[in-house]
Amino acid sequence: MAKLTPRELIARNTADTAPRLVPEIKLRLAAEALPLYSAGEEELVALGIGAPYWAFAWSGGQALARYILDQPESVAGRRVLDFGAGSGLVAIAAVIAGAASVTAADIDPVAAEAMAQNQRINGVNFSIETRDFIGVQGDWDLLLVGDVCYDKEIAGRLLPWLRDEAKRGCDVLIGDPGRFILREVGLEAVASFHAETTGIMEDSDLRNARVWKFAD
Ligand SMILES: C[S@@+](CC[C@H](N)C(=O)[O-])C[C@H]1O[C@@H](n2cnc3c(N)ncnc32)[C@H](O)[C@@H]1O
Repeated sequence: MAKLTPRELIARNTADTAPRLVPEIKLRLAAEALPLYSAGEEELVALGIGAPYWAFAWSGGQALARYILDQPESVAGRRVLDFGAGSGLVAIAAVIAGAASVTAADIDPVAAEAMAQNQRINGVNFSIETRDFIGVQGDWDLLLVGDVCYDKEIAGRLLPWLRDEAKRGCDVLIGDPGRFILREVGLEAVASFHAETTGIMEDSDLRNARVWKFAD
């Protein structure tokens, strides 16, 4: 694969796909027949991009999107930050559920382009930011986090900030299959979802897709 602009990369490597738990939303996701689906680390470096997290609808993000679409009162009228938004799945669901405003943040510039395309496909509007919001006290009152605790480093930075935000009165909802790293931080599950899985990135964890909040 030659180096491509984010727009070209997305156009050549994705197909409009509805995530399994959220069939009412379509996203430009990596299709099995397309090159990015199976790209390894070296190929990604050659392409000048990071891991294409934006090209998959992660199980935690699917659970969170399903939860807020089924319980729109959890989001309606709120000022929402979708942190680590990837494809923008959760942000799109928040707009549909009636949020007063939605900002989707992802430090990956390719994710920003994918989100811009995904909001157009779904006929919704939200702000897209590529700066790192960890540590920031913004004017949001609901923080949505889909599958961002995927490694120790990011979880170690993210969780203390999420707890601080919860302490100052912001609601925090985390979509995650229940990774080990989350077991000791005082979360309780507010919803669980089960779905059959087929894709390599879905692996088995869609079966355990859950939404969590801080217990205290
Ligand atoms: C596994 S993906 C989840 C995407 C989406 N929320 C979902 O559930 O489908 C995690 C995302 O977090 C983003 N990310 C990692 N560190 C971040 C940070 N400090 N600020 C914003 N986004 C970050 C990555 O770029 C990636 O797109």
